[in-house]
Amino acid sequence: MITIKEMANGFQYIEVKNDMACANIALQGAHIFHYVRQEEEPILWLSDMSDFEHDKSIRGGVPICWPWFGMNKRNSNLPQHGFARTLVWELQNSEDRDKNTTHISLKLSDSSETFSLWPYRFELIFNIIISDTLVMELITTNLDEKPFEITQALHSYFNISDITNVAVQGLDKKPYFDALTSKHLHQEGDVIFDKEVDRVYQNVSDEILLLDNFRTIRIKNEGSSSAVVWNPWIEKCARMSAMSEDAYLGMLCIESANAMENCIVIASQNSHTLRATIS
Ligand code: BG6
Repeated sequence: MITIKEMANGFQYIEVKNDMACANIALQGAHIFHYVRQEEEPILWLSDMSDFEHDKSIRGGVPICWPWFGMNKRNSNLPQHGFARTLVWELQNSEDRDKNTTHISLKLSDSSETFSLWPYRFELIFNIIISDTLVMELITTNLDEKPFEITQALHSYFNISDITNVAVQGLDKKPYFDALTSKHLHQEGDVIFDKEVDRVYQNVSDEILLLDNFRTIRIKNEGSSSAVVWNPWIEKCARMSAMSEDAYLGMLCIESANAMENCIVIASQNSHTLRATIS
């Protein structure tokens, strides 16, 4: 069942309920902020302090970082992680394919507002399949006459039992940029957490596993060569907007991305698809 809902402040979202799962998707940012399979704990983490405010990204779920990930490399005054996560998208299609599977499709197009931040004509489609797996497909089409370059991320916040209980597999031997020290290093074994971690893994091709003591979440990425692994730990968490002091314990971001040297150049009238399947 698909219902369009509205919060008291006018913030609109799509509520999906089928026999396999439930999800909530905000029109602002095409932002999935809730996904839970029947009889399970939510897969996505959402801050209990998240303010669903206009023009402000939701803290949790899956923000879409686009057309740049992190700081804009030409102008650091531009919004971090681009503008797709704070603009209102258009609902293109919503359909219960059967009792287990719902498809949602949203679109963002260039406008005078996007042009003032990024001078290209584009179409961005976000297809979501909600079932016992969550499939997210971000299709970028260049409608301009010249090529453009993007970096991007499906910035998934996963809900975990406790950050000290989890390990991330699938990144062994991969090169990564450590955003905390600005060093280029290589991963040895699983990623485990006993301090702040903010890394961009490069040339990632394998499935990534998030091992928690009560379940394993699998992240299969296509059209993506980077994986961002982020937990703010104690001090950064205390400084961050819309996060309670101990929020870092219950969340871990593993982002399906194309970042830094894994940027994507799209020729005029061509498209690129980034797909993440969470199971
Ligand atoms: C991650 C970055 O992708 O996003 C972190 O690697 C950043 O450095 C985090 O703090 C959250 O960003 P924001 O803009 O949503 O607060």
